[in-house]
Amino acid sequence: MKIHPVPFKALGGLYEQDDIKAAMGVITDASKPTGSFFPLPEELDFQNALAAHEGASYAVAVNSCGTALDLCMMTLGIKPGDEVITTPLTFVCTATCAAARGAKVVFADIDPVTMNLDPEQVRAKITDRTRAIIPVHYTGLACDVDAFDKITGDTDIPVVYDAAHALGTLYEGKPVGGRGKASCYSFQSTKNITTLGEGGAVSTNDGEFAEAIRQKKTFGYVYGPSLRVVTIGFNYRMTKAQYAVGLTQIAKVDRIIAARQQRMVRMNELLANVEEIICPAGHGPGHGSHLYVARLATDKVKFTTAQLRDHLKEAYQVGTGKHYPVVWSWEAFANIDHDKSNCSVAEKVSQQVFSLPIFPDTPFEDLDYIAWAVRESIAALRQ
Ligand SMILES: Cc1ncc(COP(=O)(O)O)c(C=O)c1O
Repeated sequence: MKIHPVPFKALGGLYEQDDIKAAMGVITDASKPTGSFFPLPEELDFQNALAAHEGASYAVAVNSCGTALDLCMMTLGIKPGDEVITTPLTFVCTATCAAARGAKVVFADIDPVTMNLDPEQVRAKITDRTRAIIPVHYTGLACDVDAFDKITGDTDIPVVYDAAHALGTLYEGKPVGGRGKASCYSFQSTKNITTLGEGGAVSTNDGEFAEAIRQKKTFGYVYGPSLRVVTIGFNYRMTKAQYAVGLTQIAKVDRIIAARQQRMVRMNELLANVEEIICPAGHGPGHGSHLYVARLATDKVKFTTAQLRDHLKEAYQVGTGKHYPVVWSWEAFANIDHDKSNCSVAEKVSQQVFSLPIFPDTPFEDLDYIAWAVRESIAALRQ
């Protein structure tokens, strides 16, 4: 095969003429005498479309998923002395949102097949100080939300899902956005849709919770005949241009996910017979298909995943990602109170994972090329 670049792109979705037109419309309107970039509180179209798509009663748009998680922790009243349980295999802010409130971050282990937080491991870490649980629908594969509902039913501990990968994810055929206390989405550039590079949202079925998030995201305001400031708040708003592009993006998200899904299912077929590779579980209908995370079966080889990734890049120009090092390995955790005991599955899996460059517009010939490069690289490193 002809060697050519297949980068791990920074744009995860499709940004097309309708999106450009929507953004330009806001920019043009803003220059008119009555125009502005300020998203008026009554501009609910994007938030309503998102809530409907995700099966939730409410969606509140904010400027990132990190912000969404922070606001959820604040709204739950997480404070020093509390404990929050999460997965080690995630982006750093899933854990630091709890640490930022002064809480201890308690890591529980993941399921070795789905790579999602294991509800039984979570139960083993619950104490009388546990105040929240934050599972991640990792790569877009739904967590065992019924099992987490049961934990809340048994203990009253709220579950906030990190749904950064999970726009469009289904659990038993239904969207996950209305499950638990809330779900936090990301529309940052690499995600399946983007609101001009940054953006996020909280979805929930709890009207009071949604209102509290709404107030905190905009200086504690309550709009009415006269403006009131009712709580400590911040400016975590999206701009009007982001709302406009959010609407055109959400209108096409099912097409984006279907295109990703088709390609990820195909990659599983292409790598099925490579015995050194553990293909990701769950790809197909209902998978949000944000990431294709393969694993190197490190027990069967004498080289590391880092060596395989380097070889793919240097010999074949195939870019890969790593999702993720275990969270506590970031140096900030030297100063963050946390418990990382009994997480041996996550530790091993984080040494094995590498993400392949699969996007909604990846040509099918490139899938063949990537799979070939993986096989060739393994053969070369085995020497
Ligand atoms: C699992 C997870 N949570 C949270 C985030 C943070 O999202 P944002 O960049 O929108 O703050 C990311 C971003 O990559 C993520 O992958």
